[in-house]
Amino acid sequence: MAGFSLNSAETARLRSVADRVGTPFYVYDAQALRDRVAALKAALPDVDFFYSLKANPNLSVVGVLTSAGTGAEVSSRLELETALAAGARPERILMVGPGKSADELERAVSLGIKAIVVESIEELADIDRLAAFEGRIQSVALRVNPDFQVSGARLAMSGRATQFGIDQSDLQRAVACVETLPHLRLAGLHIYMGTRILSEETLEQNTRQVLALAEELMPNLSWPLDFVDVGGGFGVPYYEDEQSLDLDKVGAVLRPVIDGFRSRNSQTRVAIELGRYMVAEAGLFVAGIRRVKTTKGENFAVCDGGSNVHSAAAGQGFMRRNFPVSLVPNGPRDAATAEKWTFTGPLCTPMDVIASAIEIPAPQEGDLICIHQSGGYGPSASPVDFLGFGAPAEVMADGDTLTVAKERPDWQSRLATQTPRAIPMDMTGIAAAPAAPFDHPALDRLSGLRPLFEMTGNRLETDPGAWADLWANPTVRALTTIGVPDDYNGFPLSQTDLGIEDCPHALHVALVERLARFDPSCILALPGPSLSGGAVLAAGNPAQIERFFAPYRTGPQGTFFAVTEPDVGSDASNGSTVVREAADGSMTLSGTKMLVGGIARARIGLVFARMETTGRAALVMIEPQEVADYISIERLPTNGLCGADLCRLEMHDVPVTNDMLLGAASSGGGSLRDGFMAINGVFERYRPVVAALALGNARGILDRLEKASACGGFADMQTRYTALLNRLARVLEDYANGRPRSHRISELKFQAIAFSDELVMRVAAEAPGAMLSDTLLRRKMRDAKAFEYMEGTSNIHLLNAFRAYVAEVPA
Ligand SMILES: Cc1ncc(COP(=O)(O)O)c(C=O)c1O
Repeated sequence: MAGFSLNSAETARLRSVADRVGTPFYVYDAQALRDRVAALKAALPDVDFFYSLKANPNLSVVGVLTSAGTGAEVSSRLELETALAAGARPERILMVGPGKSADELERAVSLGIKAIVVESIEELADIDRLAAFEGRIQSVALRVNPDFQVSGARLAMSGRATQFGIDQSDLQRAVACVETLPHLRLAGLHIYMGTRILSEETLEQNTRQVLALAEELMPNLSWPLDFVDVGGGFGVPYYEDEQSLDLDKVGAVLRPVIDGFRSRNSQTRVAIELGRYMVAEAGLFVAGIRRVKTTKGENFAVCDGGSNVHSAAAGQGFMRRNFPVSLVPNGPRDAATAEKWTFTGPLCTPMDVIASAIEIPAPQEGDLICIHQSGGYGPSASPVDFLGFGAPAEVMADGDTLTVAKERPDWQSRLATQTPRAIPMDMTGIAAAPAAPFDHPALDRLSGLRPLFEMTGNRLETDPGAWADLWANPTVRALTTIGVPDDYNGFPLSQTDLGIEDCPHALHVALVERLARFDPSCILALPGPSLSGGAVLAAGNPAQIERFFAPYRTGPQGTFFAVTEPDVGSDASNGSTVVREAADGSMTLSGTKMLVGGIARARIGLVFARMETTGRAALVMIEPQEVADYISIERLPTNGLCGADLCRLEMHDVPVTNDMLLGAASSGGGSLRDGFMAINGVFERYRPVVAALALGNARGILDRLEKASACGGFADMQTRYTALLNRLARVLEDYANGRPRSHRISELKFQAIAFSDELVMRVAAEAPGAMLSDTLLRRKMRDAKAFEYMEGTSNIHLLNAFRAYVAEVPA
C-alpha cells in the first residue's frame, strides 16, 4: 500500500502545528465537522441527530457539532458535563450505558435530560427514587435487545447475548414497570444494533426492523412515544477494500421507511445517534519519526506515538490493517525509489505498529507521519499512559485559525495524581463511627437532594428568590416545615419517602448536618418557622400561634428573628430596642437590629426588645408588610452563606398592640415573666443546629477534597470531624433526656466553627490546586468563613464556654 499525499499548503500547516505543540498530536477540521452534519440533515431532514461523545469527547469537537445542531448521547459524568459545557441543552441529551453510577443518574435527573436510556428493569426504580427526590418526572427510554440481528455491522451489539438493553421478551414487563413508577415517563425506545456499517441496504434493514418493533409495541402504550432511536452505526472506510457510504443513497433508502413510520405515528420522532461517522474523517493523527533503522532486511521508522495514542490504527482488538497514511518530509528531498517501511510507536512490544509495509521513499528522522480517518476513537480510546508517554495534544483547525483544543498533560501533573493518601479506615480512640442520631437510615435517603442544593446554593449567591427551587421539591418542603405543629402543617414528613413519622430535635439536627454537606446556605434560605417558631410556641397565646403558623397549611412562609444589635451583639437584653408606653397606654417600638436573616422576604417574625419602663424583655411579633411605613430594611452585603439573606432593620415608632406582644398579660397568654430565659431556651435549641451547619459544611469540604483526590493530608481532619459529630450526638442525647447543658452546647458550637475555620486555612495552604480548580469547594470555603455571623457576636458563647470550663475544674 502506498501513502496518500497532502498538498503543500497542508503539509506546511502540519509542520507549523508540530513546531508549536510538538508531536504526536491530533488535528480536527471544524468545517469538515459542520459539513458532515449539514450533509446528514440534508439527506434525512426529518431525523433528530445525536452525537455519541464516545467517538471523540474533545470539548471543541463537541462544541462545533452542538452548534451545528446535533444533540448529545453521553455515557459518563464527564461526557455529560462536556456536552453541557459545549452548549448542549439538557432536553437534547440522552444518557446511555449498561452500568450507570448513582452520581451519573443523579446529575441526569437533576438536569431533567431528554431521556435516560434504561438498560435493565432494575434501573427504573433507581431513577424513580431520584426523580421523587427532585420532585420531577424524568423521561426514560427503554433500550431493547431485540430478537433480530443486522448482518452488515463489523461489531454487533444486539440481537445476541450482550450486556446491553432489555430482552425483547421482557419489554412488556419493563413498560408495565414504568407505568407503576409515578416519577417516570416512557418517552422512547432505543435499539443499537452495531457499528461500522458501510452498506446502505444494511442501514435500511436496521431502521425498518427497529421501527417495526416500535410500532408493534406502541398500540399497547397509554400514550405515544416521543421518539424511537434507531441507533446508527454509520461507518467510514479505513481499509483499501472499503467504500464510503453514499449519503444520497442512504437518504433515498431510509427516507421512505422513516416517512412511512412518521405518517402513521406523527407524534413520534426518529432519532439517530452517530459517533464515528460525524468525526472520523475530520481528524488527522500526526506523529514524528524519531529513529529509522533497517534490521534483518526490514525497514522500520520508530515514531513518538503509536498504539498508545492511536490504538485503532494499531488494530488493537482486531487484525491490524493499514489506515490511509501520508508522509510529511522534514525539508526538500531528492527523488528516491520507493521501499517498504513499517512505522512503529515507541512502546516495548512488537505489536506497536501503526502502518506496515508502506511503499515510500526512505523516511528520515524529523519527518511526520499522518494517519487519516483518525477523528474518532483516537486518544480517548487509547491506552495513553502505557509506558508513561501520556496523551497527545489535540488541535482544532477552523479556516486559518488554529487552536490548541486539549493540552498535552505534563509529567509533573500526572505524577502528582499518585501522591499517596491515607484512606481513613480506623477512627481509633475518640471516634469509631458516627453515633446515633447521625446514623439514622433516613439520612442516606437525602443524597438525591445534593444536586438541587448545590445548584440552588450557587443561584442564591445572586438571586435571593432562588429558594423557590427548593420549595418546589416535596421532600424539601417537608424538611422546611419541621417544627410546625401538626395541626398547621400541610407538608408532613410522613408523606415523604424518608421513613420518618415524627422528628425529634436530635434527628432534625442530624438532617441539617447532612443537608449542610450539600449546601448550608440553602438551609438558611428555606421559608420555614426557623428560630421564631420555637419562641412563638414557647411564649405565644393561641391567637398568636394561629397567626404565626396558619399559612403553613398551604404554602411557604418566610420568618425572621431580630435579636442582634450593632453595639451589643446577641446579648440583646442590654440592647437599645425598646417598646415605649405613652400616657394613654399606646405603645411604639423603636430601635435598630443587625444581621436579621431573611426579613426582606419574610411575612412574619419576632423582634427582641425591652419594655422601656420596666426594663423587662419583650418579644414583639410584627408583619413587615403591615408596618412598612415605620420600618426600613436594608440587605447587607455578605460574602458567604448568602441564603441567610442578612439585613439591617430600623424601626421608628412602630405602633404596637397587645396582641403583638408575646406573653403579654392582657392578651390572655402565658406571661413572659422571664423573657431572657425564653429566648435563651430558643437559642439553646438553635446552637446545635449551627454546630451541625458548620460541621456539615466542613464535611462537604472534605468530600470535595476526596473527589479531587486531594484529601491525602486531611485524614486527621476527618477524624476530628467524626469526633465532633459524636460530641454533638452526646449533647443532643443529654438534651433529649431533659439534661440540657448550655455550656456544652456553646462550647461545641464554638469548636465546630473553629474547626471549619481551621479546615479552610489548611485547604488554602495544603490543597491550593483543588481550591483553584473547584468552584464549589471555594463556595463552601466562603460559607465556612461566614458562620461567625450566626447568632451575632460571640460573647454569649464565651460566657457559656467559661461556665463549661468552671464546671470541669475540680472542687
Ligand atoms: C449505544 C451506542 N451508541 C452509539 C455508538 C457510536 O457508534 P459509532 O461511533 O459507530 O457511530 C455506540 C458505539 O459503540 C454505541 O454503543
